[in-house]
This record gives sequence, C-alpha cells and structure tokens, in this order.
Amino acid sequence: MIDIELENKKLPFGMTEEVKNLRTSITFAGDNIKSVLFTSTMTNEGKSTITIEIAKSFAELGKKVVLVDTDLRKSILNMKLISGKMKFGLTHYLSGQCDKDDIIYHNTAKGFENLYVIPTGPSTKAPTELLSTEKLSKLLKDLRNDYDMVIIDTAPIGTVTDAAIVAPSADGAVFIIESGKVNYKTAQKAIEKFEMSGCKVLGVALNKVDKSKGSYGYYKYGKEYGYEYVSEK
Ligand SMILES: Nc1ncnc2c1ncn2[C@@H]1O[C@H](COP(=O)(O)OP(=O)(O)O)[C@@H](O)[C@H]1O
Ligand SMILES: [Mg+2]
Repeated sequence: MIDIELENKKLPFGMTEEVKNLRTSITFAGDNIKSVLFTSTMTNEGKSTITIEIAKSFAELGKKVVLVDTDLRKSILNMKLISGKMKFGLTHYLSGQCDKDDIIYHNTAKGFENLYVIPTGPSTKAPTELLSTEKLSKLLKDLRNDYDMVIIDTAPIGTVTDAAIVAPSADGAVFIIESGKVNYKTAQKAIEKFEMSGCKVLGVALNKVDKSKGSYGYYKYGKEYGYEYVSEK
C-alpha cells in the first residue's frame, strides 16, 4: 500500500454543512448500507467532488473508508494522485497486471488518515468490458468486508451503462443532479434506467444550487427524486 496526501481543498461556503447532511442521510439509510454508489445523468454534475468530500467526511468520523473511482472515462482521482506516486490503478488490477494491495492508496493528510482511495489507472479502450469482469464485483465485495464504508464514483448513466454494471455490487446509490442543468424528464429517465440494475436509489443530491437560494448543495432524501424542486421551474 502506498501513502499519498490528498489535498484538503477548502469548500465553498455552505457545502461543508450539506456534505454532513448527506452523510447523516446515508447513515440513517440503515446499518446494511455499507457501499454507496454515486452517479448522475451527465458529466460535470459533481460526482467526483461529492464522492471525495463524502468519503473524507466519513473518515473524519473515524470510519475506515475506501473511495473507488470507477469512472474510467473521466477520472479526477488520477490527476490528484499523479504527484509521481501512482503506479497502479483499477484498470491494471482488472486486467490482471497487479495485486489488490497495489491499487489501494492510503491518505496521510492529517485528520483523514482513515481514508483510502483506488484510482482508475490509465484509461482503456474497453471500459465497459473491463468493469463487467467478475474481478470487479469480487473486489467490491472484499472491500465491503474490509472497510466500514465503500464510496463508489461512476460514469454518468445518461451517456454510458458503466454505472449500471457496477450497481449490483453496491447497497444503494445517490443520484446527483446539477441544479438548473438537467431537466426533470431527463433525470427521471436516467434514474429509471439506473434502477433497472436492481440497485436502490437512496436519494437525490441536488448540486450547485444557486447561491441566492441560500445554499450550494442540497440533498433531497427519499424516493421523491427531487420532484418538488424540479417542478418549481
Ligand atoms: N457544489 C459545487 N459548487 C461549485 N462547483 C462545483 C460544485 N460541485 C462540483 N463543482 C465543480 O464542477 C466541476 C465538475 O465537477 P466533478 O465533480 O468533476 O463532476 P463529475 O464527476 O460529475 O463529472 C468541477 O470543476 C467542480 O469543481
Ligand atoms: Mg467525475
């Protein structure tokens, strides 16, 4: 296992509180919810930003957390880790080029020592095929046993099926919607497509909410998919 130090980015005002609310909602979803997948309709809605912050937030509470980046098409963990230390990532492991221990990086940043991350590794020509291997479901199952919490970042469901392939290995999902960007019908369709995987959507996180509405991030919990909010427009 290799030590890394993830930068501790200062969050926009209000977001820290929202991340804590999201953490509470996930905690109250039940004891059996130990691996949570995050997806969205499109790219750039904030999956990676939120997964990193939520993983840090659980780690801060003393939970042993692993953040797994399965967005083989747009990884931000790779870039953050690149500082010369990344040797192997998920794609190496899934294609049989290294051992499990080689892809788990331990965060040594003060206060967040309980956080471990698995970066994607170099992008591959066949991301969907690679994610479909039994090796990934086995890995996620093992991680669920070894860690208190597994946070899974995925590719957007509206464009590719990768998230639905990973979904059966998760206990539940949080669907991220960028406020004002994706319309209700599109998001609803994407959620329905995702739910066909059999993975339960725990709630919707409305991200990048207009400052004038008093908050940067808003988490709408439950099965309502943010109906109320979206239909306001
Ligand atoms: N709540 C937020 N407020 C402001 N900017 C945000 C917020 N969430 C994400 N961003 C920014 O939006 C961009 C896309 O976010 P990212 O997490 O990479 O999206 P995704 O992983 O869904 O593609 C990044 O530049 C990120 O810093
Ligand atoms: Mg991302």
